[in-house]
Amino acid sequence: DLAMRLLAGELPTAWPSAWHQVMPQIRQAGPLLAAPPLLGESLHALLARGADATLAELATSGLRGRGGAGFDTARKWALCRAAPVPEGGTRVVVCNADEGEPGTFKDRVLLSEQADAVVEGMTVAAHVLGARHGFVYLRGEYRFLLEHLESVLARRRAAGLLGPGILGVEGFDFDIAIHLGAGAYVCGEESALIESLEGKRGVPRIRPPFPVEQGYQGQPTVVNNVETFAAAAHIARQGGVWWAGLGVPGSAGTKIHSVSGDCARPGVYEFPFGVTVAEILAAAGARDTQMVQVGGPSGLALGVGEFDRRIAFDDVPSAGAFMVFDATRDPFEVAHGFAEFFAHESCGFCTPCRVGTELVKRRFDKLARGHGSVFDERELRALESLLHGTTHCGLGATATNPLRDTLQRFPTAYARRLQGPRFVPGFDLDAELA
Ligand code: NAI
Repeated sequence: DLAMRLLAGELPTAWPSAWHQVMPQIRQAGPLLAAPPLLGESLHALLARGADATLAELATSGLRGRGGAGFDTARKWALCRAAPVPEGGTRVVVCNADEGEPGTFKDRVLLSEQADAVVEGMTVAAHVLGARHGFVYLRGEYRFLLEHLESVLARRRAAGLLGPGILGVEGFDFDIAIHLGAGAYVCGEESALIESLEGKRGVPRIRPPFPVEQGYQGQPTVVNNVETFAAAAHIARQGGVWWAGLGVPGSAGTKIHSVSGDCARPGVYEFPFGVTVAEILAAAGARDTQMVQVGGPSGLALGVGEFDRRIAFDDVPSAGAFMVFDATRDPFEVAHGFAEFFAHESCGFCTPCRVGTELVKRRFDKLARGHGSVFDERELRALESLLHGTTHCGLGATATNPLRDTLQRFPTAYARRLQGPRFVPGFDLDAELA
């Protein structure tokens, strides 16, 4: 029935699932989530201060990218600003709203509740960079937000906050188009995203050159996460010292977490950097927690005894997911599910990732069926180290993080599935495992 409806053109290629339309509750709001809508305040501050001084404020703030990697935002903008523009071209500002990491839904809330701040941050970037074009690359599953976002853009154009001559300033011309993704996780990788924006298959490019030098159609391009732009807008208004005063050294400001799983109060939480995992667990009403997957499957799994660690770039960095698993969950099955996800989402461009993620998944399947042997565990370990060093992009490089972390922290979850070799004459499994 679905296939027939698709063929009849009734459904768009990326339709919103009911699941993705669930709007998580804001449980803990900080300066980003509690702020009233920004309707030009940051742009007035930007124009009063000037582009150079605004970039200096951003440097003072210590803002680092919120997509997970934590690259210095002011440095990224400065590199883009310094890059030569091809003749007839412009610099480009791209908002990465392809929030695809399992367990991450904070950008969904920001785009729904704080879209003006996000767009204002992009507009600040445009002025600093001298960019005329912007894109919001919106995750296909977030299509239900399209109408809302288009209305925000239209309202801002009507108010002179977007379009030609922003706030009456000659030469401050910037507008934004929304581009819908089609459900590929890899398109959240910035260079695959740019390929997709150009109408091509979403395959990551070789970097360098980084997008700040050659991005959309060869033009210098800044790609930042939704939350990064929202933070940049508030920094433009309130100054770098204000932001640097929140959080901890090296990890300034606040971070928004998408808390899900075994807890009484799942939802979105904004905390200053430096908050401990235990503090978030307590706020969310989590009990009997066995494991927390911070930053989603491409992040880090933590076990009991590690919950006093801090969310910070030099301790536990996070792209935003905070998935709670209590003692009733099986860490092996959690990692198994993630292995299936990565095998499904590998773009297939490079062999180590295309084949490696599938081999990992099959080994998991085999162990789950009770046919595993100690050799399978060795093979999993070998695949894990192979994928870390050989894949074309970050997808493959992080695909085995859940395997690595659960093997290390929950070895018994694997050991009890290694029943197979008992039938091998003379093979002493218990001695092997000891
Ligand atoms: P990366 O460290 O290679 O780059 C981060 C940013 O810094 C990019 O924008 C890149 O262009 C820029 N950059 C790095 N070195 C540069 C240089 N020398 N000159 C100019 N610019 C430079 O990290 P990558 O591969 O872009 O992203 C990996 C991260 O993404 C991981 O932390 C992972 O956890 C996270 N991730 C987030 C997801 C989400 O849904 N938010 C999904 C999957 C992964």
